Amino acid sequence: MPNGPALIKWRYNRSMETDTHPTVHSERWQNKVLPADMVASYRTRGFLHVPEVLTPVEVAYYRDAAERAALSMPPLSDRPVFLQLVNVWRSSDAMKQLTLHPLLGRLASELAGVPLRLWHDQILIKKPHNSAATQFHQDQPYWPHDGGTHAISAWIALVDVPVERGCMTFLTGSHRFNNLPAQDLGDAHSLFGKAPSMEWFERVTIPLRAGDCTFHHARCAHMAGSNETDVPRVAHTIIYTDADTRFNGGNHVVTAPLGLVAGEVLTGDMFPPINR
Ligand code: SIN
Ligand code: NI
Repeated sequence: MPNGPALIKWRYNRSMETDTHPTVHSERWQNKVLPADMVASYRTRGFLHVPEVLTPVEVAYYRDAAERAALSMPPLSDRPVFLQLVNVWRSSDAMKQLTLHPLLGRLASELAGVPLRLWHDQILIKKPHNSAATQFHQDQPYWPHDGGTHAISAWIALVDVPVERGCMTFLTGSHRFNNLPAQDLGDAHSLFGKAPSMEWFERVTIPLRAGDCTFHHARCAHMAGSNETDVPRVAHTIIYTDADTRFNGGNHVVTAPLGLVAGEVLTGDMFPPINR
C-alpha cells in the first residue's frame, strides 16, 4: 500500500475522535433554509461559501474516516496535485454518512433549485508541501452526461484550509460558459487557452475553516493552490447532478464498470436521489 507510510506521518490530534457516527448536525443551518441573498449570489456568481455545515465533532469523525479510507482504498490517482479517492461512500460506512449527509444534500438542492441525485464523491488530499496547484478548470466537461445543467459540488474542508494550504478560487460568472472542451487541471494556461476572456474575470479566493464548505456549479471554473504547510489538506467533495441526467456514452471511471447504455437516465444504487 504505497500511501501508508506517508499518511501515517500525518497523524492528527485525535482528541475529538468519536467511534460512533455523529447524529447532531450544525445548529447554524438546522430547520433554516438558505437566505434568498445567498441563493441569488450562488446563481449569479456560480459559487457560494457556507460556513459551519459540520460541527467540530463531525469534522473530527469524518477527517479520521477520510484518513482511514486513504490508507485502505486504492486511489484513483496519487500525483503531486492531489491524492484522489473516488466513490469512497461505496466502501466506507463512515464516509457514506458524509456523502449522504442530509444537510449538505438539502443545501445543494436549495441552491440548484431542481431535484438532484448523487453523481459521485471524492476525497482530495494535498500532501504537505506538494508544490502543485490544481489549475483552473470546469468540472462538467469531464463527465459523460447529457443534461445535468444544474449539477453542483460541495467542497468540504476537513481541516482548516487557509490560502497557504490550498483553498479554492473561483471565477465569477464562468458557469455561463457551456460546451467548452475539457481543460487540463495540470496546466495553468489550459482554461484560458479555450476561453481567453476568463483570464479577466473576477477571482474569488475562499479560505475555509474546518467544517465550512463551498458549493460550486459544475461549470464554474475553479482552482486550488498548492499546500505550503506541514499539514495535509483534506477535503471531501460531494457531486450532485440533476435527477434526470442521462448517460451520454462517454468514458468515465464511475460509469465504466456499469454497462450503461447511452441515453439512459443515471438511476439505481450508484446514483441515489437526494431528498430535499
Ligand atoms: C482541489 O481540491 O484541489 C480541486 C477540487 C476541484 O477541482 O473540484
Ligand atoms: Ni474541479
